[in-house]
Amino acid sequence: MNKIMLYCRQGFEKEMAAEIMEKAATLGVAGFARAVENTAYVIFECYQPNDADLLAQKLPVKELIFARQLLVISDLLEDLSPEDRITPIIEAFKQLPAPFDLTKTDDVWVESADTNEAKSLLTFCRKFTVPLRQALRRSGALQAKVAKHARTLHVFFLRNNACYVGYSYNQQHSPYFMGIQRLRFPEMAPSRSTLKLEEAILTFFTPEEEKTRFNENQIGVDLGACPGGWTYQLVKRGVFVYAVDHGKMATSLFDTGRIEHCPEDGFKFQPPKRKRVNWLVCDMVEKPSRIADLMAKWLVNGWTQEAIFNLKLPMKKRYQEVQQCLDSIARQLQDAGFSFQI
Ligand SMILES: C[S@@+](CC[C@H](N)C(=O)[O-])C[C@H]1O[C@@H](n2cnc3c(N)ncnc32)[C@H](O)[C@@H]1O
Repeated sequence: MNKIMLYCRQGFEKEMAAEIMEKAATLGVAGFARAVENTAYVIFECYQPNDADLLAQKLPVKELIFARQLLVISDLLEDLSPEDRITPIIEAFKQLPAPFDLTKTDDVWVESADTNEAKSLLTFCRKFTVPLRQALRRSGALQAKVAKHARTLHVFFLRNNACYVGYSYNQQHSPYFMGIQRLRFPEMAPSRSTLKLEEAILTFFTPEEEKTRFNENQIGVDLGACPGGWTYQLVKRGVFVYAVDHGKMATSLFDTGRIEHCPEDGFKFQPPKRKRVNWLVCDMVEKPSRIADLMAKWLVNGWTQEAIFNLKLPMKKRYQEVQQCLDSIARQLQDAGFSFQI
């Protein structure tokens, strides 16, 4: 038992496999990834004992592009009896690798893959959670209060008689069930796109960082802003926004008095004179390399301090494409002598 499972969006298994191979190698961990298309997860098997645990400790999910969750898993438990699935599952938990200590776990999540086929399994997972949690508490495996380095137990069902059991480290894992943050669509937002920027902000920053980086003293530029979903997220946090797009902005945004609409080409637009722009956000649908170069230009010229942008990846070689874009931005910033964090 020396493998990790990574949840990912359905259809992104190849990218997930490429990313984990590379990230594991940088940590000196050798192994191989098994990815089956459209399963919404990837399994990475390590060659050295305890390397799976090492990856779970060293790789924060939020630093991975394609992973939603990362956990150390057991071998597949099959042919579970509908009369008693709990006993073999608890037994499997007890056999998790040596560094694992059941007294340091504080919850259990019963999950399945995020695919249409697995949707019906989720009802079963929900019903199974309470009796499993109770049985784990009775066996002393779940503690109400644990140290901050606690772990979370996972049961990942493939079918209602087959599952993996595993664990994740709370400090490194995604704190969301199935690794998916469920955001409510804000009624006042002009487009569903708004959730993309909201998720990015909530992922990249703690609530304290968010307050210092997005507030009434900040100025933002939104390239490809219409109808205004991303602008809405900035304005909601107090930022004044130059919204650049030839299209129409939602009138509700003008009522806030916190935007100026600039009907211009986002590739030619430059920051308004004597204004110090803190934030550049960009959701123009364009070739990723063009967007990456545009972001690098703004940062290198000192036109903005920070940027959040959307790379609309092609259908093929998505991992290579995103890596090339990020490498290119890093190279341009390095050449210009900047210290930076991507
Ligand atoms: C996906 S939409 C943006 C949605 C927006 N982020 C929201 O939350 O409502 C892409 C926008 O980019 C704009 N766009 C595309 N190319 C552009 C360019 N060269 N300059 C300015 N805007 C551009 C389009 O007009 C379109 O409104």
